[in-house]
Amino acid sequence: MKKVMITGGAGFIGVNLIRYILAEKPDWHIINFDMLTYAGNLASLASVEKNPNYTFVRGDVTDTDAVNRAMKDCWGVMHLAAESHVDRSIDDPGPFLNTNVIGTQKLLDAARGHKIEKFLQVSTDEVYGSLSKDDPPFTEDNHLDPNSPYSASKTSGDLLAKAYHATYGLPVVISRCSNNYGPYQFPEKLIPLLINNAKQDKPIPVYGDGMQVRDWIYVTDHCRGLVDIFEKGRTGEVYNLGGNSEMYNLDLIKLVLKEMKKSESLITFVKDRLGHDRRYAMDNSKITSELGWEPQFKFEDAIKMTVNWYLNNLDWVNQVISGDYLEYYKRQYVER
Ligand SMILES: NC(=O)c1ccc[n+]([C@@H]2O[C@H](COP(=O)([O-])OP(=O)(O)OC[C@H]3O[C@@H](n4cnc5c(N)ncnc54)[C@H](O)[C@@H]3O)[C@@H](O)[C@H]2O)c1
Repeated sequence: MKKVMITGGAGFIGVNLIRYILAEKPDWHIINFDMLTYAGNLASLASVEKNPNYTFVRGDVTDTDAVNRAMKDCWGVMHLAAESHVDRSIDDPGPFLNTNVIGTQKLLDAARGHKIEKFLQVSTDEVYGSLSKDDPPFTEDNHLDPNSPYSASKTSGDLLAKAYHATYGLPVVISRCSNNYGPYQFPEKLIPLLINNAKQDKPIPVYGDGMQVRDWIYVTDHCRGLVDIFEKGRTGEVYNLGGNSEMYNLDLIKLVLKEMKKSESLITFVKDRLGHDRRYAMDNSKITSELGWEPQFKFEDAIKMTVNWYLNNLDWVNQVISGDYLEYYKRQYVER
């Protein structure tokens, strides 16, 4: 059995990743290490919580003792835990530096001590900053130029991971991915917020002119890529992942409204986000040529699956918004 620690496994991508691994890797045992912040939701893992290949540990990545206890006998670490919402980082950068920088350093130190054989640092396209309309997509060689406290904290974690490889020889690999969409995403993020508001005929807030471009990737494609990089990626290397689906935010919103048969009059333009990046786009050539990974889901199909998932899981959405699930699981799992 290969014991693998996944940090942030109760968040949007973590939940999808754990479900993917339990289905695809019967010889892995997952330790899901998560503090259960507002963004962590164990209700999303209820159907797998009794799987013998799965253990949940409630803990904070900045807590050295808790991290060391959970990492004992692990083969590898997939580090996803983060404060992840850009707007929250603009309101209060402190928790972002604490979790995304100090937390990453604590994990890297523990990984050295436990002689971890593979450490995957899950990073983001936002570390590259913003592209203008005609720039080529980001490659792994682009310089790092983050613009928000969130992306600056993720860049710091990313660079620390690289430095631990160069300095101590820690077997680190780094993934940088574009915007994800799919089931179990916290409804403060664009796509679930849009679906939830449209369902209730509430206004859809759109930042600025809505002409920001994002490259959307279905979360399952990201998870499959993370496993490929973790298993086969060369240590010390960075791999970009994108969905080959660049789109203006406004076009995305109109497409979802059309799919839901809702009026575009719900669109409400609001003051632009401070430091808002204009465009992200990813070049997948490296991961495709080295590891054979490509996105498999077409945006047109996967966005329909996503809309249907949220409409069919309104209980999940309401539970998440009310915060009821969080109190329930926090009572069940005391921090260790
Ligand atoms: N969502 C995206 O589109 C996207 C794209 C590229 C990269 N990423 C990266 O992927 C990772 C996961 O993103 P997500 O969208 O699932 O985030 P999320 O906010 O949905 O989940 C984050 C999880 O981390 C946990 N967490 C937060 N602070 C913690 C701490 N101090 N100790 C332990 N656990 C803690 C939370 O409880 C939550 O379960 C992040 O590192 C993010 O930067 C996300």
